[in-house]
Amino acid sequence: MALHIFDLSFEHHRDALGIGQPSPRISWKYDGDAQDWVQDSYTIEIRRSSSTSTEAYTVQTADSTFVPWPSRPLESGDEASVRVRASGSGVHTSWSEHRRVEAGLLRVEDWKATLIETSAEVHAPHGHVGSDSTSKPESPTLFRRTFLTNRTILKARLYITAHGIYEAEINGAKVSDHLLSPGWTVYQHELPYQTYDVSNLLQSGAENAIGVEVAEGWYCGRLGFEGGRHNIWGAKLGVISQLVITYEDGKVETICSDAAWKHSPGPTLDASLYDGESYDIAREVGQWSSPGFDDRGWSAVCTKKHDARLLRAPDGPPIRSTETLPVLNIIKSPSGKKILDFGQNLVGHVRIKIPEGGKGHAIRLVHTEVLEHGECATRPLRKAKATDTLILSGKTPSAQWWEPRFTFHGFRYVELNGWPQLEIDPTHFVAVVIHTDMKKTSSFESSNPYLNRLYQNIIWSMRGNFVGIPTDCPQRDERLGWTGDIQAFAPTAAFLYDCQGMLKNWLRNLAFEQKSGGNGSPPLFSPNAMSIPAFPLAIWGDATILVPWDLYLASGDASILSSQFESMQDWIDHGIPRNAQNLWGPTTIQLADWLDPIAPADRPGNGSTEAQLVANCFLIRITDVMAQVCQVLGHHEKAKLYSGQSSSMRIAFASEYITPNGRITSDSQTAIALGIHFKLFPTQAQQNHAAERLEELVRQRSRFKIATGFAGTPIIGHALSSVGKTQLFYRMLMNAKSPSWLYPVSMGATTMWERWDSMLPDGSINPGEMTSFNHYALGSVADWMHAVIGGLSTLEPGWKRFRVAPQPGGRLTSARVDFQSPYGKLTSSWRVEKDELILEVAVPPNTTAVVLLGLEVPQTVGSGKYTFRTKYVEPERPSLPAPTPFMAEDDDPESLT
Ligand code: BGC
Repeated sequence: MALHIFDLSFEHHRDALGIGQPSPRISWKYDGDAQDWVQDSYTIEIRRSSSTSTEAYTVQTADSTFVPWPSRPLESGDEASVRVRASGSGVHTSWSEHRRVEAGLLRVEDWKATLIETSAEVHAPHGHVGSDSTSKPESPTLFRRTFLTNRTILKARLYITAHGIYEAEINGAKVSDHLLSPGWTVYQHELPYQTYDVSNLLQSGAENAIGVEVAEGWYCGRLGFEGGRHNIWGAKLGVISQLVITYEDGKVETICSDAAWKHSPGPTLDASLYDGESYDIAREVGQWSSPGFDDRGWSAVCTKKHDARLLRAPDGPPIRSTETLPVLNIIKSPSGKKILDFGQNLVGHVRIKIPEGGKGHAIRLVHTEVLEHGECATRPLRKAKATDTLILSGKTPSAQWWEPRFTFHGFRYVELNGWPQLEIDPTHFVAVVIHTDMKKTSSFESSNPYLNRLYQNIIWSMRGNFVGIPTDCPQRDERLGWTGDIQAFAPTAAFLYDCQGMLKNWLRNLAFEQKSGGNGSPPLFSPNAMSIPAFPLAIWGDATILVPWDLYLASGDASILSSQFESMQDWIDHGIPRNAQNLWGPTTIQLADWLDPIAPADRPGNGSTEAQLVANCFLIRITDVMAQVCQVLGHHEKAKLYSGQSSSMRIAFASEYITPNGRITSDSQTAIALGIHFKLFPTQAQQNHAAERLEELVRQRSRFKIATGFAGTPIIGHALSSVGKTQLFYRMLMNAKSPSWLYPVSMGATTMWERWDSMLPDGSINPGEMTSFNHYALGSVADWMHAVIGGLSTLEPGWKRFRVAPQPGGRLTSARVDFQSPYGKLTSSWRVEKDELILEVAVPPNTTAVVLLGLEVPQTVGSGKYTFRTKYVEPERPSLPAPTPFMAEDDDPESLT
């Protein structure tokens, strides 16, 4: 019997170096095929680097996730090595690997570094943060200093952050592979700092140098649509850096950012997130981050006080490059332009092999997601230039390759202007994919290649839009943390990747901005880069409650509920204007079922479902969730209050919107699906009637096309499955006629589009000025793919008990979903062989599964690997309605040829 512990982790950290929690909770996973194995105790062993003794703690419990830190709290910079073993059913596991955990700077007093800025005069924002739309910030700047180490170094840590985004080097070497650090944050609330182990970069008993290059990034770069603004949080680039060196003799020395530092412009002329980076090789200054470099011509920095209380260790992983892609094709456009095609719409930048060329010769790379009429289509980028420029020096460059480091683009195609050679060698270009480096936790594979491509597209859109914060899109002059988008996508996101830490940071910032607004509403997007005053908006504002809830369901970590509780209550109790029935007040602006395909291209909020109705469905939903949140947190009186509110609101909702027979006033896919999914029909008979009507709408009116936007899309599949109409949804999912999920796939999409028809069938781009080819919201259908095709869903928060109940259909002959749950890997894999359905299930140790296959009786099984077989009769496929005299029959909507 195999049984192993792996993936020992602290809180939600992928790497636990420089964490902000003095008593980090510990979790581990199991793998192996141990049958019916349940943990009954664990032993945690802790070895602190400051002590030679080992502490061991044994606890009798089945808990293996988020167990309390058993020892005394870590102090700033304390390091420990931790391992775990467990026992159960008379079996002991072996010890896990040792995992290291190290605290960051936990107390404000630990920070000795001052903020350093350039001395150059710049236009200061007029009096306060967030008001300057005209002045341009400084160009990227190099900061450096040297220092002597006069003894043997034992270890060294660099604690560092910036106003702007930075890259740090010590003695000519980069300190890490992090990109765009410290990421994006609500700067007036918190400034994340990074901790790097730089022990191996320093030289003992010698002169050393530290260098930091800083560019505007989100801090003072241009952000927002309609031209946006610069200098939203400040007008000057700055660094806060604290290098702590521990010598072998126990002495500690700290090299801080202070007046001893100097600064100079470098070769990076401009670096804007939206517009791109310009780099002039001729302006390279040599080994500027090494000792011995002549910095006599450099200027002294200004030192500034800063509020060290804002400095905070991040809860999520950093942004990194996780993959590179080669050029697939070089295209010559009808107008003669040379275009590199990387074959995949991605987020990142291009690394290029520097060609020979005359001094001052500029190579320009314009990045776009799609081609239109064979040319790079820049219109969807609106005012983002997405152009990187490399200016050659006329000499043989010191480096072979160049890549921008302070910008990113959403692109598949790159228009290459000014390439100095006639022939383009495709191997001289590489696309570098970047995103927050979360652990991938899922995979999906079925017998239908188009469905598999759809799933890959969803993953690519998640990667591209999880760059520090969850954004709407990664390419145009927007890229903002829109609340409604992540609200729609959170259940899917939490299955695809471990995004708990990253979203925890984002939610904390959202709550801060909500509180500062003072009216209970969160901003439309966070960070609120455009200072748009918060106003109540259902679905978007509901993210305050639904996103933490979805994270809790996925992880079982209730601490996200307690830390967001004030924000949740503020929204539900104070943010939402109510009428006499406690429903949404009569006159509110709502985006509601945003991007319903029936809405005109320039009015995406004008869908077919009444906005107020949609808002009220969600209001009842969040009230139900609040009742459950209060139960989990032990606020039983409040739980009763919200349950009571939800019952009376259901009555009010029904009398306003539901007919006695079960019609709903907006006769639309979204309205009925929401009614079913959120259990808003007062009687079973009404719900049955509504379900029949929904089937009619889907078959007759839509001919299996989708007719939902942000509100209906994530739930319509679940709603249909819950009323026994899974096969109907399969036909919608397999439909390739627009609007549908597979239409973009049939058009060659490699990411999820913002609109169902971001590209029209004739290859032209949707005329709407808001047309991205990388938006994850419509990818929320993956939640149904996991839960119904794969059949995996949790029966309690955190996947300790889960269900395996795949529902084959859609002419699939096999499907497989794997999920790295908080306990270990679950698998549900089924295939049809002749008239038999064979299901293979893997249940990780310390968990239980309820397996439901067809009409068989549910079986509860413990850990292990199982094969189930049952007789298979292919489910009846809902047929297309007969064409009416005025309606030509469509081609087969599933045809992808
Ligand atoms: C964004 C959306 C967002 C919407 C709300 C758009 O510009 O891209 O995804 O939710 O605005 O108005």
